[in-house]
Amino acid sequence: MDGTERYSYLPIDTPELLQEHYTEIQKTWWQTVTDAKFDLVVVHAGQAQLFFEDDHGPTFKANPHFLQWIPPEYAVAESCLVICPGKTTRLLFFQPSDYWHAVPMPPDHLSGHLEIRTFTTVADLHQHCTEQVEQLTKAPERVAFVGEPSCKTLLGKDWQQNPSSLIHRLNFARAAKTNYELAAMRNASIMGALGHRAAANCFSEGGSEFDVHMAFLDASEQNEPELPYGNIVAQNHHAAFLHYQFQDRHTPTELNSLLIDAGGSYRGYASDITRTYVTAQSNAAHEAHAAFTSLLAEMRNHQDRLVNAVAPGGSYVELQQLMHEQLAEILTTHHILKCSAQEAFAHGLTEAFCPHGLGHLLGLQVHDVGGQQIAESGELRPPPENYPALRFTRPISENMVLTVEPGLYFIPVLLEPYRNNHASFNWHLIDALCPFGGIRIEDNVRVLPTGIENLTRDAFTTIGYTGAHP
Ligand code: GLY
Ligand code: MN
Ligand code: MN
Repeated sequence: MDGTERYSYLPIDTPELLQEHYTEIQKTWWQTVTDAKFDLVVVHAGQAQLFFEDDHGPTFKANPHFLQWIPPEYAVAESCLVICPGKTTRLLFFQPSDYWHAVPMPPDHLSGHLEIRTFTTVADLHQHCTEQVEQLTKAPERVAFVGEPSCKTLLGKDWQQNPSSLIHRLNFARAAKTNYELAAMRNASIMGALGHRAAANCFSEGGSEFDVHMAFLDASEQNEPELPYGNIVAQNHHAAFLHYQFQDRHTPTELNSLLIDAGGSYRGYASDITRTYVTAQSNAAHEAHAAFTSLLAEMRNHQDRLVNAVAPGGSYVELQQLMHEQLAEILTTHHILKCSAQEAFAHGLTEAFCPHGLGHLLGLQVHDVGGQQIAESGELRPPPENYPALRFTRPISENMVLTVEPGLYFIPVLLEPYRNNHASFNWHLIDALCPFGGIRIEDNVRVLPTGIENLTRDAFTTIGYTGAHP
């Protein structure tokens, strides 16, 4: 955001928030560098890529470790940070004189927190970086380099590239957000809420997936490269593809449902929001339409209960299990499974209806790092065998931001193996529900000392929208 946005977002570049953010991250990085037994770290923003045999490439996306210090609008490829305990962090900002592309100005508003040097050639920038490092240490093996391994000039120097002792500590610490990061994520949530409101309206007017996608972009004030992840806009059976990636230009003649999973990105921080809608009427069999409508209402209650069960010190693995226990109730009370909820859960039948995890950490990356890491040393807690897709297994703690996104889908490829050998499945109803695809409802929550702040629901309230179970 550069001040030209149409919606007034919450103030974020306040002296207090910036001061606290840079004090906090500096403390974490200095401690991390010292604990990992380095003298300093060079963080490289990354290099622009080209498509194969072409002269243009994907939009540049900087190294997330760099983005924690420098917002994306200033995160120019080839720029570097030199972070050394006890010294002011130095930003080596690349500002070529270019007439093919516009080049950002350096982030002067951050000059109270960083020392900024500007370079017009990569060679000069690398030379300064090398000299700076040599002034700060005589031991090249005590220099850590964090970034893509493609930066050959800086990497020919016996510096340690992405040492796991350092990366593990940084990833672990990143789960707890500073107030600046939380403010960015509240704004990312508002962007998402604006987009979702427009998407819901577009769907209610019979818009196609493409129309809904464009409505989301317009209202959330983002172009596609700015999105935190590609929009998932899935009508009817497309919703059974968890990360459905296309957008049909035509509305299906029988429009039944919409699943939209789309978020905003603000200062590099993401929101990740999903809503599911059913048409007021559809040409699908009345029984299936009524069942899906009722399932949707029940899934909203289910998601509410799971959100309210998030608490510091809690176990997300237990919440994952709770999700399946509740799903077993929903599937059996709706006669989709013709056995008891206990049997459905005990035999893992719910896993055919929801193959993904309940959620994940959120931040600079949509599936943020460190979700399965239970110690800063890098020790991992793998997900339980029956829930291999669960991305978040570490204990829940204060100021984490995580998603809660239970789902219920009719995915033919997962259901088919049961078709001829399991008496509990109500195939008549399941087959009738396949044209509705599935349901996912996803909120982003911050963990408080007791309970949670629901960034998503709060954002819907902030924009004054009460239409879609916000
Ligand atoms: N948008 C991808 C996810 O919800 O994890
Ligand atoms: Mn999502
Ligand atoms: Mn998610």
